[in-house]
Amino acid sequence: MPNIVVVGAQWGDEGKGKVVDVLASCVDVTVRYQGGNNAGHTVVVGSEKFVLQSIPSGILHPGCRCVIGCGVVIDPASLIEEMESLVQRGVSLDGNLYISKNAHLIMPYHPALDRASESQAGKRRIGTTGKGVGPAYVDKTARIGIRMADLLDEEIFREKLEYNLQQKNRLLREIYDAETFTVDAILHPYRRYAGWLAPYITDTPLLLSRWIDAGASVLFEGAQGTLLDVDHGTYPFITSSSATAGGASTGTGVPPTKINGVLGIAKAYLTRVGGGPFPSELHGPMADLLRAQGKEFGSVTGRPRRCGWVDAVALRYAARLNGFDSIALTKLDVLDACETVKVCVGYRYGGDVLTDFPGEERIWHETEPVYEELSGWQTSTHGIREYAELPTKAREYLDRLSELCGVPFGLVSTGPMRDDTMLMPDSVLASWYPSLRGGWPPR
Ligand code: IMP
Repeated sequence: MPNIVVVGAQWGDEGKGKVVDVLASCVDVTVRYQGGNNAGHTVVVGSEKFVLQSIPSGILHPGCRCVIGCGVVIDPASLIEEMESLVQRGVSLDGNLYISKNAHLIMPYHPALDRASESQAGKRRIGTTGKGVGPAYVDKTARIGIRMADLLDEEIFREKLEYNLQQKNRLLREIYDAETFTVDAILHPYRRYAGWLAPYITDTPLLLSRWIDAGASVLFEGAQGTLLDVDHGTYPFITSSSATAGGASTGTGVPPTKINGVLGIAKAYLTRVGGGPFPSELHGPMADLLRAQGKEFGSVTGRPRRCGWVDAVALRYAARLNGFDSIALTKLDVLDACETVKVCVGYRYGGDVLTDFPGEERIWHETEPVYEELSGWQTSTHGIREYAELPTKAREYLDRLSELCGVPFGLVSTGPMRDDTMLMPDSVLASWYPSLRGGWPPR
């Protein structure tokens, strides 16, 4: 069975949670490779809605082992809350959840620094989730981060905390005029977290290697999306980790030679939260319609998402960077009411039309989108599970979008439930997961 990376193709919130949940029924292991509790993966199971932040969406399948890889940053209080809430709802974690001992901790001073720096950034404000994810990655790269393994070693934990607090408190007090922290106020709760999390902390690259050698199939679950990647996204309006497919290897310790394919997840329109460029952004009634129909409010922060038309230039860029073999397109039904649907096919800038995604801030901010307009289908596609049953205009939209981004669609999602899912029978995705050919639940 293949090992596949699932990557967001846009600015996050593409519906990865639902797709990973559907595919997790066919794999043995799901593993998160980057990000932290800034992510919110929504999964609807029957009448229940789960929002997973740090734990892979595979946890909702009893036979699926879940790993939080070394590329993830972990807020232990938030993780424990997530674990407790799952247990209360009948989800079993024992023997199902493994946390990398090399993953870095989000410490209480990280959200404080995140919020303090945002409050002084003015027009350069990123619009972060305020969870301390960026500052935790800063410490990781600066080699002063505190890892899960350190949490289990009281002496080293205290030594690192004392050293870091001297620096962080100066920064908070003198640069940001913000509240400072004492060692004891952090040590006490973190000791409790250590007791809670100790049974789950382990050498996950070693486990993953053993499982793969024994024939297990692994699904790598990306958080955020390609355009928020620290290197390839719309820098500096990005998150601080490697959200693209390359991050799956460094963020888990599984070598690239053991990874067999990449699935991109894209929404049939486009959203982003926080600041930064968004060439095909809409304002007014059309944006309001997409936001209302698509329930486009942040699952972590509740912020209304900015909405716009799908951007084929950006999708082609994501396909190239990640090497998508296939794309799962989500939320097609949100466009059902539209009289016409538009696709951004180029950026007008300085008298030229650019068809390759630019890397310069000035171009992103000053560019005008060039659209191709297609007829809408104005009939419900909600819950449709067969391509042949889609209205002709919806099929034309899918075919044109797939042609523009140069990647075949392997799956189309037409609603939030597991069975509102259409698998293209001849796709590479169907060859990876043949038991899904007859639809959900897998056979
Ligand atoms: P941070 O990751 O909290 O530092 O936020 C940096 C940027 O990434 C902000 O624009 C956030 O809104 C965005 N972001 C972070 N996580 C997500 C996510 O899961 N979905 C969508 N946007 C996100």
